[in-house]
Amino acid sequence: MYKKTYPLSFPKDFLWGGATAANQVEGAWDADGKGLTTAEVVKKAENRRETTMGDVTKQSIKTAIKDHSDKFYPKRRGVDFYHHYKEDIKLFAEMGFKVYRFSIAWGRIFPQGDEKEPNEAGLAFYDKVIAELLKYNIKPLITLSHYEMPINLTLKHNGWSDRHAIKEFTRFTEVVFKRYRGKVPYWLTFNEINTGAWGFHETGAIDSDLNEHDQLQLRYQALHHQFVASALATKQLHEIDPKAQMGCMIARMQTYPATPNPTDVRAAQVADEQNLFFTDVQARGEYPEYMNRYFAENELQITMEPQDQKLLKQFPVDFITFSYYMSTVTKAGDKQKTVGNFASGGRNPYLEESDWGWQIDPIGLRVTLNELWDRYRLPLMVVENGLGAVDKVEADGSIHDAYRIDYLRKHIVEMQEAIRDGVELIGYTTWGPIDLISASTSEMSKRYGFIYVDQDDAGNGSLKRSRKDSFYWYQRVISSNGDSLE
Ligand code: BG6
Repeated sequence: MYKKTYPLSFPKDFLWGGATAANQVEGAWDADGKGLTTAEVVKKAENRRETTMGDVTKQSIKTAIKDHSDKFYPKRRGVDFYHHYKEDIKLFAEMGFKVYRFSIAWGRIFPQGDEKEPNEAGLAFYDKVIAELLKYNIKPLITLSHYEMPINLTLKHNGWSDRHAIKEFTRFTEVVFKRYRGKVPYWLTFNEINTGAWGFHETGAIDSDLNEHDQLQLRYQALHHQFVASALATKQLHEIDPKAQMGCMIARMQTYPATPNPTDVRAAQVADEQNLFFTDVQARGEYPEYMNRYFAENELQITMEPQDQKLLKQFPVDFITFSYYMSTVTKAGDKQKTVGNFASGGRNPYLEESDWGWQIDPIGLRVTLNELWDRYRLPLMVVENGLGAVDKVEADGSIHDAYRIDYLRKHIVEMQEAIRDGVELIGYTTWGPIDLISASTSEMSKRYGFIYVDQDDAGNGSLKRSRKDSFYWYQRVISSNGDSLE
């Protein structure tokens, strides 16, 4: 019989929350035995539209290692979540969070990446964070690697470009899965794994001295190692903690053809494939033919060991997650450019953009959710979404961030529509529920938070936390399970 009903709104156990990354909030970069990580050697940008995440050379790393301050490396100071986690989690609980996505700094657990034994002090820190979350019934959703790895693995093996990284990573994952068994229902392997096609910040592999072909060769090889590591981590998790689930995570780049000209339509399809390749491998468990063709035509050779393809097939992820900030436009003949915090694609005349040139497109989120659901039929989570903006603190200390509320509201409306379309969307964690250091520019003044942190771009400030208007708004959104969006 034809079913006449459809879901009207968010499921009652919908996971509302927020997301951060260790290197953008924790600070305490050299505390309690922690080793330096790749994120902490990237210099801050001098101009806010520029990203420096790929400008890394052996020499720049050496200079960074000798420099023991955080002046040029703001990710070393974050917003001192390391010492404020209780206060911050209390504020998340006050907003009614059901889930908190954060990452473990690999370098806290294995400071050099290749020790035989983990650093107990690092494990103890995340024990405390997890206990604090569980105290408020907030489910931890942990990213195992959010744009960082111990810098020693870059210096010794050039990061993920060497298969050796798989061994070190899975030693790290085994330790944390065992330690936090029964406490963490959701894990993600690599943050925005697709951005590894753009270099160092994700692969931990220095490639700025290579020509374009060799860069791609190195990056896709590194990504292959990450795919295998992800499959092995999924296997481990299911063995160690059978109730826990593993997800993958991409930066979803919704793209539209610049015109109805079939050449533009086809170009947009190709651009889309470059994005979906990553979920195809991690969710369907195999390299798609369109990428095999791309590799062949571009003379790229992925070296695999005999068991790799079997592992990918045997251990796909349980759910799919993605970040969504913007959409872009693709025109045939234009060189495929990266978008978002890595540069910008074509302009869409129908969309407004943020102060950083990110094109705001809530409907694109609905389009994306439908596409991903149609393609994979796996539960989906939007694990990053938000507006980076400059906030003004009024004389009485209040912060009226109506622009942020407006951005988030429009995206939530489209998520609700996607649920009505039949998409199985299980959670939403906004990016940076507390102000943090920007990934691309290392600025502080590009703020995403519901919670304001008193710190400027140079690191001056009291670090005092305060509630913005959006704090109370998101609290109402969560308590009404998405019904009250005004
Ligand atoms: C995502 C990253 O790409 O975008 C986050 O996963 C990042 O780490 C977020 O912070 C926003 O980008 P930015 O450059 O504004 O911090």
